[in-house]
Amino acid sequence: MPTESPRVVIDLDLPGPTISRHIYGHFAEHLGRCIYGGFWVGEDSPIPNVGGIRSDVVEALRALQIPNLRWPGGCFADDYHWRDGIGPREERPRMVNSHWGDVVEDNSFGTHEFMALCELLGTDAYISGNVGSGSVQEMSEWIEYLTRADDSPMAVLRRQNGRDEPWKVPFFGIGNEAWGCGGSMRVEQFASLARQYSTYVRKHADNEVYRIAAGASDHDYNWTEVLMKSFDKLEAGDGPAGPFQGISLHYYTMTGSWGDKGDATTFTEDEWYIALARAAHMNELLTRHGQVMDRHDPGKRVGLVVDEWGTWWNAEPGTNPGFLYQQNTLRDALVASLHFDAFHRHADRVVMANIAQTVNVLQAMILTDPDSGALVLTPTYHVFAMNTPHHDARSLAAHVIAPEASRTVEGKDMSLLSASASTKGATAHVSLSNLDAAEARTVVLDLRGRDVTGFSAQVLTAAELNSHNTPEQPEAVAPRKLDGIRRHPRGLELDLPAHSYVTVALELGVDD
Ligand code: AHR
Repeated sequence: MPTESPRVVIDLDLPGPTISRHIYGHFAEHLGRCIYGGFWVGEDSPIPNVGGIRSDVVEALRALQIPNLRWPGGCFADDYHWRDGIGPREERPRMVNSHWGDVVEDNSFGTHEFMALCELLGTDAYISGNVGSGSVQEMSEWIEYLTRADDSPMAVLRRQNGRDEPWKVPFFGIGNEAWGCGGSMRVEQFASLARQYSTYVRKHADNEVYRIAAGASDHDYNWTEVLMKSFDKLEAGDGPAGPFQGISLHYYTMTGSWGDKGDATTFTEDEWYIALARAAHMNELLTRHGQVMDRHDPGKRVGLVVDEWGTWWNAEPGTNPGFLYQQNTLRDALVASLHFDAFHRHADRVVMANIAQTVNVLQAMILTDPDSGALVLTPTYHVFAMNTPHHDARSLAAHVIAPEASRTVEGKDMSLLSASASTKGATAHVSLSNLDAAEARTVVLDLRGRDVTGFSAQVLTAAELNSHNTPEQPEAVAPRKLDGIRRHPRGLELDLPAHSYVTVALELGVDD
């Protein structure tokens, strides 16, 4: 008996919560070649730059409309003292970057350089403050330095360092991984500190600041529970919670263990599926952390911020293992598309997310060659580019009916088809990931509730599961137009190549 094609059912006239563009956020740590060599080359570099910041990197990221950038860490943030990174560069004190390669950091990229980068990118700053080894006063003065307009001590100091106008800082992190590199704290201890430090991250003038307390790793639901319990009167009120407004979650995808994470480009078909199953696990993590949050906060006043996610492979052979440099293949692209599907589905709770990290570290958008300076856009970059129509669109439930398209991975059933969708005005955007390593699939989009007046599709795939881009072959994995999308009695039908990511743009008739 012929089997029915997999179907994705979407009610185009039932928009759900808005998918914040901030789930497409980024992360730049003082780690390996992310800041130095990635973003920052210095004013005297032969690489074209604006005030020391690489122009080609800025141009590539502007095309992604990146909504926010988290800095300076990561683990580095809880060792960082912001006053070391202001004033004349040649006079700035040095420090040891003990987490990442044990190298000496000269602080030539500091607050002014980071805020200039945000201005060039047209992105919001997400400053990650030091709780682990910093003081309340230090954190309080940083936000004053950044955002105060009058003649307060920190505003005067900022002016002495060449910046008259205050900046806007919409997001501020209260510590990072407080359970580990951020201070090895117990959650009860950290919850108290998060309340205290957040209180002093003040709103100066009209700078609304969203404070994000360092949250759980993976399935540490107790960490989330205790942080949620630390709020006052959450059930009773409305408006943003206080003294902090969001809590974070970190989750990395690998095929092995922390000791041997698996290789970025050399992997078996089994490891392809393990990576994708573990990436899809983000959906369960969001459901379960969300359930804990719902119990304390049914009005969803506290946001969940996944401010570190992505693949973490063994460092590229021949590179400093402390620099976390890794290649990025088609598999990484599908890891990204699965995360975005999960974030879209949980748009009511997930207000922000930051892939780790933007340039030359972990699951990067951009890799730069340390010798020639050549820049390569990774497969992951292209998923971000294909997904820009989801920014600030209303999420649409996408029900996947594909009983044949599944397989058992690490003892659990895994769907080989993932989908999510959103709508904005007279358009809708559907994301489809065919995780099957070998088989193409014809899929029916069962589109209900609004007329579809036009459609087009893009596909990201490649010959091999481990295809990736290099300076010699920069477009081995790049999006192209997907032909053959056609009308079907239920809506549309299209053929997804094996191991591919496809986005479908729909034009919709007038909503009645
Ligand atoms: O992204 C690399 C590191 O991973 C970050 O510094 C830390 O927060 C996490 O453990």
